[in-house]
Amino acid sequence: HRSLPHTHAQTEFKGSTHCRSQLQSSMASDHRLGALKAFDDTKAGVKGLVDAGATVVPLIFHHAPESLNDAPHHHDHQFAIPVIDLAGLATPSGRASAVGAVKAAAETVGFFQVVNHGVPEAAMSAMLAGLRNFIEEPVEAKAPYYTRDHGRRVRYQSNFDLFQSPAANWRDTLFMDMAPEPPAPEEIPPACRAVVPEFAGLVQRLGSTLLGLLSEALGLRRGHLEEDAACLEGLSLACHYYPTCPEPHLTLGTTKHSDPSFITVLLQDAVGGLQVLVVDDDKQNPAWVDVPAVAGALVVNVGDYLQLLSNDRFKSVEHRVVAKSAGPRVSVACFFRTDGSTRVLAPIVADGGNARYRNTTVDEMVRHYRAKGLDGVSSLQYVRI
Ligand code: OGA
Ligand code: NI
Repeated sequence: HRSLPHTHAQTEFKGSTHCRSQLQSSMASDHRLGALKAFDDTKAGVKGLVDAGATVVPLIFHHAPESLNDAPHHHDHQFAIPVIDLAGLATPSGRASAVGAVKAAAETVGFFQVVNHGVPEAAMSAMLAGLRNFIEEPVEAKAPYYTRDHGRRVRYQSNFDLFQSPAANWRDTLFMDMAPEPPAPEEIPPACRAVVPEFAGLVQRLGSTLLGLLSEALGLRRGHLEEDAACLEGLSLACHYYPTCPEPHLTLGTTKHSDPSFITVLLQDAVGGLQVLVVDDDKQNPAWVDVPAVAGALVVNVGDYLQLLSNDRFKSVEHRVVAKSAGPRVSVACFFRTDGSTRVLAPIVADGGNARYRNTTVDEMVRHYRAKGLDGVSSLQYVRI
């Protein structure tokens, strides 16, 4: 039975002397496309499937066993993600020790958590509650925001790469582009309208602090990354909702990827599920390591554009989110970028070194990232020399 009008499989069959398996896989991909469209047309996301009583994970969400089990999961705390206290930045010795800790983390695991970061607990919990309220509204309230049009600054969708990636993820997302141009207040869903602008402003202030520390960690003046490289010019929030999953071993919350940002500040709730792919000093023995939920902390990681800018001194490390039968889990990933069309992204090369990347722009990188989707391949490959 074929419900789709298009006849790719038949054309391919007629035009070649082979091949039964090609025909079959082509029909399977037509079937998959139909299932993806049907899911997308509900505008209700994965939350809609769970609300409808799904007791199995539909096929479009099944990941290949080799991508689910690409590395062992380590519980070993020798790889723990460091927690860095920002309370002492006002004194020279406190600042120097924070710069040292940030440098060590950025050069190795690419992730750290911060406490005493200046974003009040109340603003963090209000942001998570607002996100939850929005996703848990009836579909009629959410559907007007459901779009794949990147021209809109507020976009609710399940899987930005639904039609590109090899397998869909068990999550829904509300994207909001907050800088350089914030959305008009009435463009933000009422469920979180009162909290999003304030939260974004607080995170921007923390971003400024972090970019100062990272600049010094690179041996540059404190204002370099924020003022000269304009790393704080753009801010996009990806507000994720990971519903409880009936068969968590078959799918993922988020496929392995590195981030399309200079740095990402991540607010997560207490459920957990974020994992980082760590390797040893010889880049051998990759293993998944948990980023535990630390009360009051924010997670910070180096993104692809800072790895490029630092000419590989800082590492944009791959990470993923596992699916869970516990939940739902909510998180807010805050991506710092520049104004993508006007600024050239180029590596800062130390004396006597060679550039490892060609020049590019954030727009070019984001276009590439969106076009390929989360396919397990780093976007940096695209611009590496
Ligand atoms: C991301 C991401 C992790 C999480 O949005 O890029 O990695 O915990 N999110 O939701
Ligand atoms: Ni990420």
